[in-house]
Amino acid sequence: MKERLWRYITRYKALLAAGIVCVLIANVGQMIGPIILRDGIDDLTSGVTQAKLLYYGGAFVAINLVAGFFVFLQRRLIPTVARNLEYDLANDFYTHLQKLPLEFYQTSHTGDLMSRATSDLSAVRMIVAGALLYAVNTLFGIALILPLMLSMNWRLTLLAFLPLPLVTLTTKIVSKSIHDESTRVQEHFGTVANRLQESLAGVRVIRAYVQEAAEMENFKRVNTELVRRNVRLIHLNSFFTPVVNFIIGIAVVAGVWYGGLLTLRGQLTIGQLFQFILYLEFLIYPMLQLGIIVNYFQRGMASMSRLHEVMSIEPVIDGAVESDEVTDIKGEIEFRHLYFNYPGNTEPALKDINLRVQPGQTVAFVGNVGSGKSTLVSLVPRLLDAEPGQILIDGRPIHTIPLRTLRSSLGYVPQETFLFSDTIFANIAFGAPQADSREVERSALEAGLAEDVEAFPNAYATSIGERGITLSGGQKQRTALARALIRQPRILIMDDSLSAVDTHTEAKILAHLRRVRFQRTNLIVSHRISTIKDADLIVVLEDGYIVEQGTHSELITRGGLYARLYEKQIFEKELTAA
Ligand SMILES: Nc1ncnc2c1ncn2[C@@H]1O[C@H](COP(=O)(O)OP(=O)(O)O)[C@@H](O)[C@H]1O
Ligand SMILES: [Mg+2]
Repeated sequence: MKERLWRYITRYKALLAAGIVCVLIANVGQMIGPIILRDGIDDLTSGVTQAKLLYYGGAFVAINLVAGFFVFLQRRLIPTVARNLEYDLANDFYTHLQKLPLEFYQTSHTGDLMSRATSDLSAVRMIVAGALLYAVNTLFGIALILPLMLSMNWRLTLLAFLPLPLVTLTTKIVSKSIHDESTRVQEHFGTVANRLQESLAGVRVIRAYVQEAAEMENFKRVNTELVRRNVRLIHLNSFFTPVVNFIIGIAVVAGVWYGGLLTLRGQLTIGQLFQFILYLEFLIYPMLQLGIIVNYFQRGMASMSRLHEVMSIEPVIDGAVESDEVTDIKGEIEFRHLYFNYPGNTEPALKDINLRVQPGQTVAFVGNVGSGKSTLVSLVPRLLDAEPGQILIDGRPIHTIPLRTLRSSLGYVPQETFLFSDTIFANIAFGAPQADSREVERSALEAGLAEDVEAFPNAYATSIGERGITLSGGQKQRTALARALIRQPRILIMDDSLSAVDTHTEAKILAHLRRVRFQRTNLIVSHRISTIKDADLIVVLEDGYIVEQGTHSELITRGGLYARLYEKQIFEKELTAA
């Protein structure tokens, strides 16, 4: 993991080295300043002249200008490296997330991933921007100045320097508690925001169940907690500065007292005492930083290992041997003795599935909830991965087809619709970014959505979701279907994706889709038998097995599960009609 971080850092070694050289020069400059002052004071005590004043004053200003310039450079270079590193790491992390198997997303929390992608990344950045910069600065400062001080008078140095490690320790302890506490405040703020978001989104449910008072009470509770934590943070902060100043005061007093004594005894000149006190002051800040450095480093490494945890998960789907020749898909699908087991489940979700779908066929899948329909159709776009050889597309094992080719020939409309808070146009054109308005309108027409959209205030430019109008369940589903159709897929998979559309419209859409069937294989999961009875093949699933298959009339004649489901639905329809 350290190696991984190191690999990112070494990409910018030239910039980083330049930054470190700047730190060194700035420190040397800050070391020379007090020497000039010492000589100046000692020289001026023997008589003040204008020339002397000009010389020492000019030299002091000049050296500080140079040092200041290099401080400026160092503050540009090192944080730039840190930002670049964060950028690279964020890109790699995001790319990796896109490749991870779906099971990963089912077992991890979105909030957790979000925090890894944001606060952990910035904690890693602080290793370079904070820890590294301060560490180099402290190291140079101490390495250059402490020996100088010791050579002036080692007893004085030890006496004055003695309290400074206490500054380091205090900083370390307090800055850690401040950080821990502010993280808790942050987290708690997240809880408050979440609570608020949920009660706004769920306002209808809250009113319908007359839970306003309870909700307000709830909110008040989390909000009070937020204030309490913030006050703690303020206390911690207010405690820190006086304590550190007190310790520094002790060091300076000890230095001035013993140094003054030495001056009186003639062992130090006034200029030297001045130089010494300036050095002492100069060391205080690096000593203070040392405490922060340790925290930054520990925090950054902990975050790096949290990122590493995710980044070391293998993207399973990517590993297959793909053949480059396959650039086109005709649409034949074959399942061969397919078993599929979700990780952690004892019983397979699909058992011994054998099925061959010809290009251009429309196959419908029916069965009770949990019978395996969604699982079966998810295997085709490889949202789930079956064992090699159990699924063939156009006669080739599915994992030898480049994923890009496979997925770009496929339209998949999931059971749960997901739309972005964007315009209808953008939502439909999502998988076909180059699509023009004619194509968008054509697919909206095919999906039975066009009439609805034309009634919207800005037609296709109407925003939906948080930023715009709210679509009905059926409209959402038809938008998702249009999104799949615009890609003119060879294989169209609809996983009960018209469930919120009324029966009549669903039948109309499916009839239209079948009309272009010579170009397209359709896999349709539906719980409404009335809308799928014209399919070329109906497959009935039960407990992960295919229990029946055939055309509508064949299955009705057979009098099995399908016939029972059909009769039940006819009966229900008559009931509602009556
Ligand atoms: N992500 C999952 N993890 C574990 N088990 C699952 C998962 N998704 C579905 N299952 C199980 O697989 C079986 C088939 O589910 P599914 O394919 O969703 O059925 P259907 O779509 O026919 O309702 C069920 O027993 C279900 O509990
Ligand atoms: Mg399902």
